Amino acid sequence: MNVTLKIFRFNPEVDKKWHYETYTLEAVETDRVLDLLEKVKGYQDGTLSFRRSCAHGVCGSDALRINGRNLLACKALVRDVGTTITIEPLLGLKVVKDLIVDMTKFFENYREVIPYFVNNSPLPADGKERLQSPAQRERFDETTKCILCGACTTSCPSYWGHESYLGPAALMTAHRFIFDSRDEAAAERLEILSETNGVARCHTVFNCTMACPREIQITQAIGELKMAMITGNLD
Ligand code: SF4
Ligand code: F3S
Ligand code: FES
Repeated sequence: MNVTLKIFRFNPEVDKKWHYETYTLEAVETDRVLDLLEKVKGYQDGTLSFRRSCAHGVCGSDALRINGRNLLACKALVRDVGTTITIEPLLGLKVVKDLIVDMTKFFENYREVIPYFVNNSPLPADGKERLQSPAQRERFDETTKCILCGACTTSCPSYWGHESYLGPAALMTAHRFIFDSRDEAAAERLEILSETNGVARCHTVFNCTMACPREIQITQAIGELKMAMITGNLD
């Protein structure tokens, strides 16, 4: 079958304004959008720029707007997105070139929530490990699946309006550590999340949950953070 790609193009070194370019190529229904982008770059236009690494839904580097929805290009199949495909960079972040956006602010927000395990207490008497029950591990299992692709944060209208809003991706990282029974920085993180750029900016729009390629129940997890802030209960 023939597939038509309409791709957002912008090269700040030569373009005053962005534009779209259209490419037609042969494909099969199990091709992924990433395969098509690679074909365009390899055989039709080597100047096309986009990010990718693992090509298997693990690294999170190729989140794009595909026919208006935030998707990983390496997981979006032609049979699901159709034969006329518009591909654009993620919304809400500055375009560096073509489909590549500047993730600096996104990762600044990520760093704000103390995105690592904190425990300064001595190890247990046996000196081996900090024990955790299966139920305690289950409490934050959902949010360990985040691959930091940014599809959630860049689909959030609250983030589009307030770049300082930490955004759902940073909040999912906070959730992953706050509900880890072995971690000791939950109170500090909840304090950070209670600032005006924290969970209060979430108005339960649900775009983030619909955009997440890992099917993390983001809106629910943000609700759990809000509840923990009110009650102080982390169970
Ligand atoms: Fe991507 Fe989902 Fe993580 Fe958001 S929560 S960054 S959409 S994997
Ligand atoms: Fe935004 Fe998701 Fe909340 S889309 S407003 S973070 S529910
Ligand atoms: Fe790694 Fe798609 S290239 S998630």
